[in-house]
Amino acid sequence: KITSINGRIIYNSRGSKTVEVDIISENKFLGRVCAPSGASVGKYEAVSFPNEKPEESLRMLNENVQKFIGLESSDLKTIHDTLRSIDQSSNYAKIGGALAFAVSIASMESASKAKDTSLFQTLSSESSFKFPFPLGNILGGGAHAGPGTPDIQEILICAIGTKTIRDAIETNLAVHKELRRILEKEDPSFTNGRGDEGGWAPKLKNEKALELSAKACENLGFTLGKEVALGVDFASSTQWSEEKEKYVYERAGFVNSSEEQIEFAANIIKKYKLIYAEDAVHEEAFEDMAELTAKFPKTLVTGDDLTVTNKDILTKAINMKSCNAAILKVNQAGSLYDAFEFAKVANQNNIKLITSHRSGESTDSHIAHIGLATKSKMLKVGIVGGERVAKLNELIRLSEHDLIRGMAEI
Ligand code: PGA
Ligand code: ZN
Repeated sequence: KITSINGRIIYNSRGSKTVEVDIISENKFLGRVCAPSGASVGKYEAVSFPNEKPEESLRMLNENVQKFIGLESSDLKTIHDTLRSIDQSSNYAKIGGALAFAVSIASMESASKAKDTSLFQTLSSESSFKFPFPLGNILGGGAHAGPGTPDIQEILICAIGTKTIRDAIETNLAVHKELRRILEKEDPSFTNGRGDEGGWAPKLKNEKALELSAKACENLGFTLGKEVALGVDFASSTQWSEEKEKYVYERAGFVNSSEEQIEFAANIIKKYKLIYAEDAVHEEAFEDMAELTAKFPKTLVTGDDLTVTNKDILTKAINMKSCNAAILKVNQAGSLYDAFEFAKVANQNNIKLITSHRSGESTDSHIAHIGLATKSKMLKVGIVGGERVAKLNELIRLSEHDLIRGMAEI
């Protein structure tokens, strides 16, 4: 049972304020979770903090501490219902999704320590697990990097041909390193600057950035689509102008109509044999997403801003065949319970899950466990930077666990 709960304001990887929550069960088992936050935020996500103030989330927690004392820390539903008794809004406007995230996961971590089991076991009743493939940023642009970088937010690598989690991580690291070498050669003034999620942030147009990313794989002797494959998070809502009803590629200097955007994305998916294409059109273009999903059955045509870890929106996407994969970000949903409800709908409908970090991250590693418990095919957590490596290192530790065998089938 929960014997104490305490929150504080600390800082995320962008140096912005966020909340951390400690939950203690039986006076000694500590669950401690710090909430992440995004930069390219979906319109229908849970809000991070009420009025964007972490202090207000903390005040809400402090005013309601007594409601949590005595609850069973492993009872996720009751923890969720208690959060909901404080905030009935659809998007956690009153307490903030960040607080719901931290409280619900900290409670489960505390429970797992009380039971002396790993967090992923406390989160799932399954008896065997597979590792999700790490999906990591090799090149960053858009909302995650400065002027002159590509409009496209993320170019990603996934070592789809590897058999072990260590091999998968090391392969991603090797491609990330090789790309730096190529970028330095291409532009001697390249500063080795990186975007928010650790991908290199060179002054390049979209197409050149993709070309050089492919080259990094080829230089290492990899064939795209075999040992490794590229992915792209287009984060197209960043380009979408409601007013013009067009996609504005400011840095590259062109504009796409909705039809042109589909073609633009389709050409990239084809040319670079992408295993993964996220938010290739804007967050409300369910029909345009369906066109791409029908066209590329072998690519994970993925919703992030489109589906915002919301089970009702995912149901709409399923009915409209708008995606065959979806990002799971607990703080988009709010509580871990909300996120598991989303995962249930996804898994029942053959929507492949990708558990994901945010651009403003903590150094926690709980999402590695959440990826396992939700049967995610991929874990999108970056490649370098302490807050990214923390998740990958947790996967390495988990490879010593008997219940996890082999890699997921994508
Ligand atoms: P965010 O970006 O965390 O800045 O929202 C990540 C993403 O779009 O996948
Ligand atoms: Zn995204």
